[in-house]
Amino acid sequence: MTGSKAEFPKDLLDQIKYIEGLFTVETPKLKEISDHFVNELAKGLDVGLSVEGGSIPMNPTWVMSYPDGYETGTFLALDMGGTNLRVCEITLTDQKSEFDIIQSKYRMPDELKTGSSEELWEYIADCLHQFVETHHGDCSKLDSIPLGFTFSYPATQNYIDEGILQRWTKGFDISGVEGQNVVPMFEAALAKRGVPIKLTALINDTTGTLIASAYTDTKMKIGCIFGTGCNAAYMENAGSIPKLAHMNLPPDTPMAINCEWGAFDNEHKVLPRTPYDLIIDRDSPRPGQQAFEKMIAGLYLGEIFRLVLVDLHDNKDIHIFEGQDITALRRPYSLDASFLSAVEEDPFENLQETYDSFVARLNIKCTLPELEFIRRLAELIGTRAARLSACGVAAVCKKKGYQSCHVGADGSVFNKYPHFKARGAVALREILDWPAKSNPKEEDPVEILAAEDGSGVGAALIAALTLKRVKEGNM
Ligand code: GLC
Repeated sequence: MTGSKAEFPKDLLDQIKYIEGLFTVETPKLKEISDHFVNELAKGLDVGLSVEGGSIPMNPTWVMSYPDGYETGTFLALDMGGTNLRVCEITLTDQKSEFDIIQSKYRMPDELKTGSSEELWEYIADCLHQFVETHHGDCSKLDSIPLGFTFSYPATQNYIDEGILQRWTKGFDISGVEGQNVVPMFEAALAKRGVPIKLTALINDTTGTLIASAYTDTKMKIGCIFGTGCNAAYMENAGSIPKLAHMNLPPDTPMAINCEWGAFDNEHKVLPRTPYDLIIDRDSPRPGQQAFEKMIAGLYLGEIFRLVLVDLHDNKDIHIFEGQDITALRRPYSLDASFLSAVEEDPFENLQETYDSFVARLNIKCTLPELEFIRRLAELIGTRAARLSACGVAAVCKKKGYQSCHVGADGSVFNKYPHFKARGAVALREILDWPAKSNPKEEDPVEILAAEDGSGVGAALIAALTLKRVKEGNM
């Protein structure tokens, strides 16, 4: 290991090499994954969910245009992601591509994620009720406000104001919702409280990201989320979506597609899954689902790391955390992606912060070789996630023939995980065979950039575009 000051015991050194082998994804493999990805995108547009083997849902969203920057009006946006619940009021102003926003965040209690459907909708309705009353006063005196609801789970939509949940992802497991249209459940809870809101559009966070990003940058062609979950949306032509043939749309009609690419390779043809990935899947509420997401998303990065450490400790030939009580480390999902970020950010000189957090959080006192191993492990897991993510971006570019474009990305992993952007950019370069840059400041042909707020501004814009479409008499 370069720059290492520690004397590694032979067993740990061998182990580093073994783990490096497991978690490193070389260029040819990235290319293979990305080529397979292109086929799976097309397959999802063709057969969708219903026929065996179509693992990427590729959901039509009924978002059928980009904004032009001149949308106006006041909208509410509700964002039910994986971690927080956010309510915003957005005013799209007369000034091109400008908006005002007020917002409140509510913590999404963990119990809700595995509780009952009623508790979920009641909680959401309470938050909205509170928000509207705080900013507008007595609900009974108000006219109905249009709402964009960002519901970031795979949903079938025959209309933009419908969302039949295909399956929960990101650790949610609430019975009675899968296979159901969530809109009436949501509206019933609002009606009970007399909250004057009209759900205008139900959207995915990736679609919101795509539209919000395109609002300020017309080069934006893909919206991605790298956060608790991992997914992307892009604009397809109706003519390339065989499963919509029955709608008889003109072939060049734009239709944003929520890929739900977290489900890529659920049939295990190409992803280099390690024994730890298999455990994550086995012990998750939905085994067999979201194979790609489980290797990349923030929800799982800390857990992969924890599983490796526990496994090595339990393997008596490898002397890691020897003689220490690792009870705290044995608790599933006790380390999140921000723990891993902190390890990667710790200055290499002495890894003091990593040492301190292992003592404080896990009651484990690490030796220097152990600390260096921990750092390397975090790097390997973070690097693998970024490199695999690039396969999806490259696949959409290849599918659409985009030689150059911008990709808007959001989410805690993209925004906060150290080096995630740079590692993804390197992998994209490898997959798409770009020549070396003559000037390091030069833009890459495909640049992944921080997105505008998709679940807030994006949801408001989509609500505005929907109202405009309805007014013009188009679907
Ligand atoms: C999960 C959800 C998807 C969402 C993504 C990012 O993959 O299934 O709908 O876009 O997480 O939040």
